[in-house]
Amino acid sequence: MSKKETKEEYPVEEMPVKVEALFMGPKSENQKYFKEMLDFLMDEHIHWRRDFHPEDRAVVTPEEMRDKRFQKTLDRTTEILLELSAKLKNSSTPWFSTRYLGHMNSDTLMVANLAYMATVLYNPNNVTYESSSATSPMEIECGRDFAVLLGYDPERSWGHVTTDGTVANYEALWLARNLKSFPIGLKKVKPSILRGMDEWQLLNLPTKDVLDMIDTAKKAGVFEEAFEASARGEGTGYGTLGKVIVPQTKHYSLTKAADILGIGQKNFVNIQVDSRFHMDVGSLAKTIDGLVKQKIPILAVVAVVGTTEEGQIDEISEIVKLRDEYEKKGVSFYFHIDAAYGGYSRALYLDENNRFMDYEEMKKKIRKIGAVTSGSDYPTKKLWEDYRAIPAADSVAIDPHKMGYIPYAAGGIAIKDKRALGLISYYAAYVFDNKGDLSTNFGSVILEGSKAGATAAAVWAAHRLIPLNVTGYGQIVGRSIDGAEQFAKSVNSMRTLEVGGEEFVVQPLLANPDFNIICYAFNFKTGTSLKKMNNLNQKIYDATSYKSGPVYADDWITSKTELNIKDYGDAPLAFVKKLGISEKEWHRTGKVYVLRSCILHPWIANRSTYPARWAKYLEFMKRTLQKVTK
Ligand SMILES: Cc1ncc(COP(=O)(O)O)c(C=O)c1O
Repeated sequence: MSKKETKEEYPVEEMPVKVEALFMGPKSENQKYFKEMLDFLMDEHIHWRRDFHPEDRAVVTPEEMRDKRFQKTLDRTTEILLELSAKLKNSSTPWFSTRYLGHMNSDTLMVANLAYMATVLYNPNNVTYESSSATSPMEIECGRDFAVLLGYDPERSWGHVTTDGTVANYEALWLARNLKSFPIGLKKVKPSILRGMDEWQLLNLPTKDVLDMIDTAKKAGVFEEAFEASARGEGTGYGTLGKVIVPQTKHYSLTKAADILGIGQKNFVNIQVDSRFHMDVGSLAKTIDGLVKQKIPILAVVAVVGTTEEGQIDEISEIVKLRDEYEKKGVSFYFHIDAAYGGYSRALYLDENNRFMDYEEMKKKIRKIGAVTSGSDYPTKKLWEDYRAIPAADSVAIDPHKMGYIPYAAGGIAIKDKRALGLISYYAAYVFDNKGDLSTNFGSVILEGSKAGATAAAVWAAHRLIPLNVTGYGQIVGRSIDGAEQFAKSVNSMRTLEVGGEEFVVQPLLANPDFNIICYAFNFKTGTSLKKMNNLNQKIYDATSYKSGPVYADDWITSKTELNIKDYGDAPLAFVKKLGISEKEWHRTGKVYVLRSCILHPWIANRSTYPARWAKYLEFMKRTLQKVTK
């Protein structure tokens, strides 16, 4: 290996992708390529139809085409499509624009859009291989890609593309429920396999032990019977299966899952977050201790990598340590990570060979290749440890339509041990050819039925073009984090804003967040209540969102959220204090309304253009403040 090729000296000039060539661009800069390629792909499809049995005669004849109603139908088609286009242009949200500083959106990848558009004409249905022989294998490849990105062994794990993060979370908890209850079913059917284990022991087996037990049950020919005697056949029995522990910051899809899976909201235990909006691991340990004392098992613990509201990364390494410690004491639980938002950011930590880099090596590399340009300490060692610990989870939700920059609807899940698939499998003879092959007959092992093969094609194409490591996705994710950091710094350093004779202050929720969401709030500089402050920020949101009419017309667009004392405790206290709100006032009002900017764009970070961009944002903000306070 020449020096140039060594890992430390990865040649930047040989980086596989240039970010500017990946997107259409805020001003359709890459439209020429996009249109040419789209045209080519449409031609390809047209030829495909023509070339399929050239001897078959055309059905739509020139004579039919001369019919008056034929032309009328096409005229009406044109009218409708023009109307559609007008509607789309009039009121769609311009995610592509750097004026958009709201939800988890930005421009999407050209390759994914083209792949999706091309594939949709073939209309594959990934429910089963029979209806998607081109795109089901792509979905399998995407699953392997997720595995590598998340640190799982691609040979032993399994993953696939879901509709969204919500479905990915449902699938994880569905699996956890069936897994947890299997030993109970087996006890009813063949207790001799269990070597005298009592119910408490059976409900506290590590995931791997339950999967081994399933293998044993299969060998003994009692799997089906035991499975039917578990939650699969008997219903949930949640009273005995125990609690699902989630952080207060969980996405509401998990709350919905509790309902749908029959867990029941009262069996969902919310853990308080700390001042950095991480699930408080001390509280988690106390909660587990309390449950264990009462002999209440823990069905699952869920942590979040990229919280929906703040983008924070739960302390995965601490949670994994905690699980290891409890396992030594005979207590275990299924561990799911909801990385629907943050999953792709693990790419930043993998070198060009997909190896998780050492801390110093990684920090050096992300700066060398320009993925992160700031001189700051990002990522902290702690954050690095948390990303490193991700593969210890039993499953991970990861959404391509968030940080994967894929068009909707594309979620994803990776499951560490593919043996678990049997626990959520359903076989339909008319759809599936091969009962044994659960890996490509998706419909038999996933929550959904019919599903667009075009989605899998879009994710697959993006993954083939952009390595899921620091040289590919790492570059995009890094730029987004960099942009967010610069934005947070600018907000943080803005002392006073004078608008129309009135002075305002503004404060980020966290000056150095873990990821790329910046929450912030404005306040009048002097003498104000939290209620008045909330009102001000609500008005700003109303003026910078769909609420003020077509978002197209706004100077800039943002999103918002509300942090209340019931969910967040005193975590937002330090923040409101910086905005001149007393502790007493915080407790009296009990909630703070914040503006929320998920900065996904790779375009904001550029150091040389950032000052001008920030000046523009400042101008927008001042105009908005003027508008809402006059
Ligand atoms: C952390 C987290 N999990 C799950 C979801 C649900 O994803 P989806 O909207 O794709 O269903 C979201 C959505 O924002 C999320 O932020």
